[in-house]
Amino acid sequence: MWRRVTSLSHLLSSPKSSPQLTPTSYGPKIWETLSTEVSKKSGGGIFSKERSPFITFVLGGPGSGKGTQCSRIVETYGFTHLSAGDLLRKEITMNSENGAMILDTIAKGKIVPSEVTIKLIRKAIESAENDKFLIDGFPRTEENRIAYERIIGAEPNIVLFFDCPEEVMVKRVLSRNEGRVDDNIDTVKERLKAFRSLNLPVINHYSNKGVLYKIDGTGTEDEIFERVRAVFDAWK
Ligand code: C5P
Ligand code: MG
Repeated sequence: MWRRVTSLSHLLSSPKSSPQLTPTSYGPKIWETLSTEVSKKSGGGIFSKERSPFITFVLGGPGSGKGTQCSRIVETYGFTHLSAGDLLRKEITMNSENGAMILDTIAKGKIVPSEVTIKLIRKAIESAENDKFLIDGFPRTEENRIAYERIIGAEPNIVLFFDCPEEVMVKRVLSRNEGRVDDNIDTVKERLKAFRSLNLPVINHYSNKGVLYKIDGTGTEDEIFERVRAVFDAWK
């Protein structure tokens, strides 16, 4: 299993003041909390005592580069990548029981009820042989986070947050042309709203726990991956 080798505070970029990122306890707190050890909650959850997974949550607004960077992390460090958005979109294409509700929710830029998303994540974790997981686009809300803690249990070892100005994210989303129902300006506005009001409190929570790595999400894919590498190389 991977372990933290030394204090990693030098790897964190100092928080930039950005008008769209102003939650009260988010920011310098990260410097204070990073030197504390990661506390792993045990009890409950789907992992047995013998199975000690390495969990990374990957968070950031729409178009912040989560999926792109996850592919690079998989290639380099051998994680299993579970994208909550991809798992939900798969339900739509399979026309499953919740497919129509999921499509409607995604098209509006809203958040699917936690019990639906958690079930998919749980199934994917249970069917994986790997013990290193990248959980991308999750938890999106405090409700997601609490449901995860209750049902899956294993707390994240690290949380990556790709920090990116809204105008950069909007530009990326509108130019990516992947045929997604939610990559249009009206839905992107809703997704940004959801990110600000629902996801930032989750990011804040992990910042306070000392497990958050804020990564500058601007620049080229390679430039961003260099910043990601600094985090993972220190953990290997
Ligand atoms: O992460 P991604 O951009 O692929 O998510 C696309 C959409 O999937 C979100 O805007 C949201 O509607 C839905 N989603 C969700 N709950 C999650 C992750 C994604 O409802 N945890
Ligand atoms: Mg994605």
